[in-house]
Amino acid sequence: MPVTRIALLGATGSIGEQAIAVVERRPELELCALASGSTDLQSLAMAHRVRHVQVGGNLTELLEVAEPDIVLNAVVGFAGVEATLWALERGVTLALANKESLVAAGELALRAQERGGGLLLPVDSEHSALFQCLENRPLETVDSIVLTASGGPFRGQTREELGDVTVEDALAHPTWRMGPKITVDSATLANKGLELIEAHFLFGLPYERIEVVVQPTSVVHALVRYRDGGALAHVGYPDMTVPISYALTYPHRAATAVPALDLAAGLTLEFSAPDLETFSLLALARRAGELGGTFPCAFNAANEVAVNAFLAGRLPFLAIAELVEETLAAADGSPAGDLHELVQADADARRLAERELAVS
Ligand SMILES: NC(=O)c1ccc[n+]([C@@H]2O[C@H](COP(=O)([O-])OP(=O)(O)OC[C@H]3O[C@@H](n4cnc5c(N)ncnc54)[C@H](OP(=O)(O)O)[C@@H]3O)[C@@H](O)[C@H]2O)c1
Repeated sequence: MPVTRIALLGATGSIGEQAIAVVERRPELELCALASGSTDLQSLAMAHRVRHVQVGGNLTELLEVAEPDIVLNAVVGFAGVEATLWALERGVTLALANKESLVAAGELALRAQERGGGLLLPVDSEHSALFQCLENRPLETVDSIVLTASGGPFRGQTREELGDVTVEDALAHPTWRMGPKITVDSATLANKGLELIEAHFLFGLPYERIEVVVQPTSVVHALVRYRDGGALAHVGYPDMTVPISYALTYPHRAATAVPALDLAAGLTLEFSAPDLETFSLLALARRAGELGGTFPCAFNAANEVAVNAFLAGRLPFLAIAELVEETLAAADGSPAGDLHELVQADADARRLAERELAVS
C-alpha cells in the first residue's frame, strides 16, 4: 500500500491533535514533519518516529527538507501564510485549516495554485462541506452557497448585554472545542467573516452569492443552492475528524469512528439570519472582502491584534470590532504583488491596530 507522507504544521493545537488521531487509525498515512510555535515536540516526534521537527522559525525550510505529499496547515493566524504559498506553488497537496492564510493572501494563493497545479483541500468544516456538495460542478449551475454559523455563545444577546463579557464567557463555545483564537472569533462572528472571504477564494463566487445563516446545533455544515431550485446540504455531528480525514484520504473518503447522524432520535433544524448589528465583524469582513486588495489582510491582522488583546485582558469584548473597524478605515488596502508586499501590508495593519489599542 502506498504511504502518504504528511507534514503537520500546528501539531500541538486542537486541529493538530485531531489530525494525529486520524493518522494513527490509518496505516496508509504517515507523519513526516511536525511543527509548533513554541511547544516542545520531542516526545510527539519520538512516538511517531518523525525526523523533521521544528519549533518556531521558518516553516518553509522544514517543508523543503521533509518533502511531504500533503501539507496539513493547522497553524493559527497569519504565521501560516508562507507554508500555504509554498505548497500551492509546488503543487504539493494542501489540506488547509489555517483560514487566515487564504483570507490574507487569497489573490497570491490562487496565482500560486495556478502555477503549481496541485490540490487545495479545505479542512474548515463548512468549506469541506461545500467542496463535497459542489464536487466540481460548473459554477453556472450554482445560484449561491450558504455557510452556517452556530452563532457562538452569545447568540440572541444584544450589544448592551455583551458589555461585560469575560474571556471565560467567550471561550465557552456551545458546539465546538477549538483553540482560543478561533473560539473568540466564533463568539464575535469574525470567524464566519473569515470563512466568507475564504469561501470566495476557494470557490470563485462573488460575495453577493455567499450567504451566512445561523444554525445553532452545527449539524448542517453548509448548503449549495443550484439553479434548478434544489439545494445540497452536508449534515453530520460537529466533529473535525470528518473534514480532517476527508482531506487526508481524498478522494477515498476513509471510514472514521464518528457515529452516523441519528435521525430517528428526533432532529430539529432551525435557521435564522445573523444579527449583523451586534456581531458587526461579520459585516465588516464582507465589506473588506468586497473592497479586495489587502483589505482582507488588514481585517485579519487587526482582528488578530484585537483578539490577542482581549485574551490578555487589555481590550473589552465589544472593542474587538471597533478596533478592526478603525484599522480598516485607516488602511490603504492597495493590492500586494508578492509575498514581500503582503507581509508589509500585514505589518502596517498591525501597527495601525496597535496604535488604536494604545489610545483606546
Ligand atoms: N479547532 C478547530 O476546530 C478549527 C476548525 C476549523 C478551522 N480551524 C483553523 O485551524 C487553525 C488552527 O486552529 P486550532 O484551533 O487548532 O488552534 P490552536 O489550538 O491554537 O493551535 C495552533 C497551533 O499552531 C501552532 N503555531 C502557532 N504559531 C505558530 C508558528 N509561528 N509556527 C508554527 N506553528 C505555530 C501552535 O503551536 P504552540 O502549541 O507552540 O502554540 C499550535 O500547534 C486556525 O487557523 C483555525 O482557524 C480550527
